Amino acid sequence: MDSKAFFKLNYGVYIVSSSADGKDGGCVINTMAQVTSSPARLSIALNKNNHTLKLIETSGTFSGVVLSDDVEMDLIKRFGFQSGRDVNKYDGLPQGRDGLHNPYPTQGVCARFACRVISTLDVGTHVIIIGEVEEAEVMDEKTPGLTYSDYHVKKNGATPPNAPSYQENAGRTVGYRCSVCGYILESDTLPDDFICPVCGKDASYFVKL
Ligand SMILES: Cc1cc2nc3c(=O)[nH]c(=O)nc-3n(C[C@H](O)[C@H](O)[C@H](O)COP(=O)(O)O)c2cc1C
Repeated sequence: MDSKAFFKLNYGVYIVSSSADGKDGGCVINTMAQVTSSPARLSIALNKNNHTLKLIETSGTFSGVVLSDDVEMDLIKRFGFQSGRDVNKYDGLPQGRDGLHNPYPTQGVCARFACRVISTLDVGTHVIIIGEVEEAEVMDEKTPGLTYSDYHVKKNGATPPNAPSYQENAGRTVGYRCSVCGYILESDTLPDDFICPVCGKDASYFVKL
């Protein structure tokens, strides 16, 4: 099996969020897709270790935003490289609340959806959730959604282990990989004072490929 074939698949980059027992949370995903139009339904795939999955299972609803092409990497770091178990990701963030009581970020996003869970499927490491769309809104007419490819190529973004598309070392054999977020520094040397541009960890967290 040539694992590089999986890199030919195209995705967007999204944040799904929910609220349960008075706590808000959410995470970055690349696996949101429309599966039917009438009625409109979306699917998402969430790792069983993700706190966001627990929130969605409890509340039975979720919001999904499409990240804009010009989104700040800080928003992706906030939602994609730390867990709601440890921090409140919505603290101090410009946000809205949909009609199903889910929070959603309002900056760096071009569209949003509010969904009610109608079905789930256990697929091993992840759970696929089907949501029926109850609200849909364009939030920025001009800016296109960020593609997963541009996230990697233009923004030098990394894929953490909980993402379904994660591949250890991503097919590369030269460089250093951040053991926390998966970012790969393509270089023969690792400077002592190197700081991971994605998650902010120092050089001691890097392993040689
Ligand atoms: C670009 C990108 C794509 C990701 N895609 C997914 C995904 O499709 N499913 C998933 O479960 N996690 C995905 N993740 C990982 C979660 O965002 C990450 O594990 C997050 O810290 C979980 O937070 P939580 O514990 O608060 O839910 C992705 C992360 C990034 C940066």
